[in-house]
Amino acid sequence: MKRVLVTGGAGFIGSCFARTLRAERPDAEIVVLDKLTYAGNLENLRLFDGDPLYRFVKGDIADPEAVKDAMAGCDAVLNFAAETHVDRSLLSAGHFLDTDVKGVFVLLEEARRVGVERFIQISTDEVYGQILEGAFTENDPLNPRNPYSAAKCGGDRLAYSFFASFGLPVIVTRASNNYGPYHYPEKLIPLFVTNAIDDLPLPLYGDGKYVRDWLYVEDHARALLFLLEKGTPGETYNVGGGNEVENIEITRRILSILGKPESLIRKVADRPGHDRRYALSTAKLEALGWKPRFDFETGIESTVRWFVDNEAWWRPIKERDVQFREWYQKNYAERLATSKPA
Ligand code: NAD
Ligand code: DAU
Repeated sequence: MKRVLVTGGAGFIGSCFARTLRAERPDAEIVVLDKLTYAGNLENLRLFDGDPLYRFVKGDIADPEAVKDAMAGCDAVLNFAAETHVDRSLLSAGHFLDTDVKGVFVLLEEARRVGVERFIQISTDEVYGQILEGAFTENDPLNPRNPYSAAKCGGDRLAYSFFASFGLPVIVTRASNNYGPYHYPEKLIPLFVTNAIDDLPLPLYGDGKYVRDWLYVEDHARALLFLLEKGTPGETYNVGGGNEVENIEITRRILSILGKPESLIRKVADRPGHDRRYALSTAKLEALGWKPRFDFETGIESTVRWFVDNEAWWRPIKERDVQFREWYQKNYAERLATSKPA
């Protein structure tokens, strides 16, 4: 691929993908289209300062003019742009529909007009809903249970419909929970690591026995590059880390790496509709020759170290960003006031 459009490239996974693409394919032209919402951060793209094969476009994927500008001359599109936080979607879901459904539609329309060779829609394992035993395969029915995953499911199926109806070479990927450097500190791992560094409480929802399959972000980025070059249009691929861990175990692991006491854990009111467990079969992707390199032990160690070494990245967000402060207050103040020790 000569020129690749990375939408949402200023976010956590999109920026990792852009950095991976630059490292692995030094001749690729990279265009990033990003609205720079609260989750977008140009610090994540510092590597590209002065790079002649890189262009940044500030814009909304739901704005046809911005999309037309960014997609000009591109032969591949990877859509990372999304509203991504489940808890925020429970408080207000309008933006999720605008970006995760309508924005995907605008991108697909332009991709069809331009005639791109590949369109990868980055979906999520949350579209399957929860699974108490076993693991989801790509052919399982979709049963999203919160407004974020329902909106992502709309984008996922809309993307596939452009393959089935118009022959647009779309690939859909459904990844499990990512973690690693540059993770916005509203999500479980970066929130708990940065709170623990500052001896602040760690607000664990419900009984803490919810299970996620953790995928190191660099493994996800490599899987996407692999699928860009080797995936088959019209197909959907699960991308998982093979690391199922309960939230309470992760919390204890973080505290132990940092040498902090377990008394920082606070059991707080649960997330409504909280999916108990996610698990993916990645047999289809592994049969093509991809597998994750990071086990959870290695990945969590290096993630915690990254946050310890990069306070200059997260402290301004947590201490000075009004959008973060307001969110924290709205989601956690009452929960923490009525919390119990673990
Ligand atoms: P993130 O919240 O860190 O970043 C999202 C990025 O999209 C930000 O840079 C933001 O500014 C940008 N954006 C939001 N709305 C936009 C719009 N309307 N137009 C243009 N840009 C916009 O998200 P992330 O964790 O990096 O997730 C990236 C993608 O991967 C999302 O599609 C998400 O659904 C999917 N995904 C995430 C995970 C995970 O664990 N984080 C797992 C599976 C799938
Ligand atoms: O599974 C893929 C999904 O993973 C992605 O599609 C989403 O974009 C991404 O945000 C993530 O969703 P989760 O809801 O699983 O991630 P989060 O980090 O918000 O929560 C992980 C688990 O930790 C979940 O069981 C809820 C719990 N949790 C989370 C927070 C923020 C807590 O107990 N306390 C918290 O404060």
